[in-house]
Amino acid sequence: QRDSQEQTSLKTLLNSDIRLMGSLDSDFVLEPEHRPNLNSADEAEGVPLIDLSLSSAQTRETLLSEICRACRDWGFFHVVNHGIPSNVRDRAMELAKWFFEQESEEKTKVRKDEVSLMGYHDGEYTKNVRDWKEVFDFFLQDPTVLPASADFDDGEVMILANRWPLNSPEFRDVLERYAKEFENLAFRLLELISTSLGLPADRLNDYFKEHTSLIRLNYYPPCPQPELALGINRHKDSGALTILFQDAVGGLQVCRRSDGEWVSVRPVPDAYVVNLGNSMQVWSNDEYWSAEHRVVLNRERERFSIPFFFLPAINVPIKPLEELTSKEDPPKYREFNWGKFLVNRMLGDYQNLKVEDIQM
Ligand code: SIN
Ligand code: FE2
Repeated sequence: QRDSQEQTSLKTLLNSDIRLMGSLDSDFVLEPEHRPNLNSADEAEGVPLIDLSLSSAQTRETLLSEICRACRDWGFFHVVNHGIPSNVRDRAMELAKWFFEQESEEKTKVRKDEVSLMGYHDGEYTKNVRDWKEVFDFFLQDPTVLPASADFDDGEVMILANRWPLNSPEFRDVLERYAKEFENLAFRLLELISTSLGLPADRLNDYFKEHTSLIRLNYYPPCPQPELALGINRHKDSGALTILFQDAVGGLQVCRRSDGEWVSVRPVPDAYVVNLGNSMQVWSNDEYWSAEHRVVLNRERERFSIPFFFLPAINVPIKPLEELTSKEDPPKYREFNWGKFLVNRMLGDYQNLKVEDIQM
């Protein structure tokens, strides 16, 4: 009796492991008009590549004007000479692989739930279609304290604590080191982006005093029907900026601002992908662009990526900066509060801070 019960629960667990699905469950299947074209030649112009080092050929002025152009025309770019040691990045990738290769039962021990909201998770939906991926999330500030309801008024808070696997003493140390490096790079990029908008370098720094940033490990298993599904459906990021480490497999695509075409963001050795989120587009009053992007899948190969989401502090207003608006160029958005958005999202009300929703 007991044996057969145990077998049933194990079977249910294995059946729900997307790595073992021979064909797609209907929740993963996209409407025909949103399916990727896996045969497109894609010889198109790629996203800009920005060298963060300064030399006689590359002055601060040329760097700033390249950043300005990339943020305006694409909202996406690669950075090289970023100063992050390659061993920090490589160790983090090794541990991401180690984590996701474990049995479902092991990963389930650090599964996201109502109490922690951080940890392992494989049931994310983007635009109502399930993403073909597994993730592991952690906040940089641990624990992170958020108001317990989106109206903020009763003073009650929720405390979100990270969950770490107990079977690897290294996992947490390595990922916290990774987080520190990416946090430093994010502040450097924030200052460069502010300067490129004609603002003081530190104009946005106060918005990140107790930032709510998080890091995600993404695992996209091989998919039996990559023409029908996506690793993550088309979306825009909500925060200030995202810095992504992707492995050599490829699959990330960005929707080009100039013509709306999907363009591959091909992996570049030793580079990270930077993209602006909706908050940055709103602060800049549409001077800069938050681009839609998605991840296409592969029948044979698995893919890993590690994004760092640089997110404001909870009390930060998301509205066009006064210096960037005028009578001739009035604000295009009404004010929105980052904390309210984040709380709504954490409580599962909606997925994205949509620029459309706060457009004037
Ligand atoms: C994301 O947009 O959240 C993931 C991007 C990627 O895995 O390349
Ligand atoms: Fe994204």
